[in-house]
Amino acid sequence: MAAVSLTPLADHQTLAIAPTGAALQGIVQIPGDKSISHRALMLGAIATGTTTIRGLLLGEDPRSTAACFRAMGAKISDLNTDCVSVQGVGLGNLGEPVDVLDAGNSGTTLRLMLGLLAAQPGKVFTVTGDGSLRSRPMSRVVKPLLQMGAQIWGRNHHNLAPLAIQGQPLQGITYHSPIASAQVKSCILLAGLLAEGETTVIEPARSRDHSERMLQAFGANLTVDPEACTVTVKGRGQALQGQEVIVPGDISSAAFWLVAAAITPGSELLIENVGVNPTRTGVLEALAMMGADITQENPRTVTGEPVADLRVRHSGLKACTIEGDLIPRLIDEIPILAVAAVFAEGTTVIQDAEELRVKESDRLAVMAAELNRMGAKVVELPDGLEITGGTPLKGTDLDSHTDHRIAMSLAIAALNASGKTQIHRAEAAAISYPNFVSTLQTVWG
Ligand code: S3P
Repeated sequence: MAAVSLTPLADHQTLAIAPTGAALQGIVQIPGDKSISHRALMLGAIATGTTTIRGLLLGEDPRSTAACFRAMGAKISDLNTDCVSVQGVGLGNLGEPVDVLDAGNSGTTLRLMLGLLAAQPGKVFTVTGDGSLRSRPMSRVVKPLLQMGAQIWGRNHHNLAPLAIQGQPLQGITYHSPIASAQVKSCILLAGLLAEGETTVIEPARSRDHSERMLQAFGANLTVDPEACTVTVKGRGQALQGQEVIVPGDISSAAFWLVAAAITPGSELLIENVGVNPTRTGVLEALAMMGADITQENPRTVTGEPVADLRVRHSGLKACTIEGDLIPRLIDEIPILAVAAVFAEGTTVIQDAEELRVKESDRLAVMAAELNRMGAKVVELPDGLEITGGTPLKGTDLDSHTDHRIAMSLAIAALNASGKTQIHRAEAAAISYPNFVSTLQTVWG
């Protein structure tokens, strides 16, 4: 039987992994960056003229963004990795959709879009998402938008989707965000583009800056003070102009291969075309602390984003502490870093990461429960995980909890367990990485 197999069961797929002891070898092409793909589609949709996007992520999340903006009048060609063209409607000209806008599983789609919808005077919108998204907090963006003069209604004191929005003329604000969140920051900046006067967002630590880079490339009047974690956008009266965007590979997807090769004896992988924006490279710093052997090759800049190829070789890992300002720069990589910690010598502590409880699943609870089912020693902390490495893992039945990053992290853990693992609801991987299983089959064994 094949070492990796995917069994469709009605709507759900079970990923079976039978460890062979084989190393991972070869060259890996990873899919386009999810954050940049969303932003390219959105800015293209609200700009004047044509935006072309190369290397778009064809995952379910960007598909949700494309569907929402098509429903508001943007002309977006069929999605492909070669070249997607977007004819924008122009800033402030989104059309009133005839139906509910469905963001699917995507927090980025819903939160960023809310900033734009709130600022379309005279138009009414309703937005929703899947079961996971309908349980995730929206008050983090609704609250600042209300301060700007928005009108938004929803369950749980306007916190939970479905939400209804009646577009209004907005006022610029200065917002001290209590959390380092690129979704919050980007939502407010997008609303600020259409507001009266300037809008400033100040964060407690730096979150990813793809919105700032891309807004500047599209011609927005925006200033950034990285030291002060502050961004200011000028309000109404400016225009965005369509651009060419080349989307680099997603470091959050590369992270699965970085950890897989680091923990699997004899492995060496070259991961090509990885976005290495410094607001995203926390995973490289954490793995370096753990003693991983990773080098950056061929550094370059592609449409405003730093890019490199990453070479990773197996090495013995040791425990480390991951906390503080590093957390927002590796927020999506904590599940796979937890897997690395299971194979490291000593006790790894991850703290200041309570945000993980409101991702696509409660990633602290889910990673602790699923890794412990395999025999790992993981203690759930209120804001993190304490992981004592070195206990051999046993293959067993696991569940993705419909969370893409959980499905893939558990698959990498399973490569080095004894006996077969089955990961149920593994189809979740397609949210950010549709080819994950076929790449695993290519590089492993
Ligand atoms: C994202 C920001 C992060 C991240 C998410 C994508 C973005 O969320 O976890 O996967 O594209 O802006 P938060 O803003 O909630 O930290």
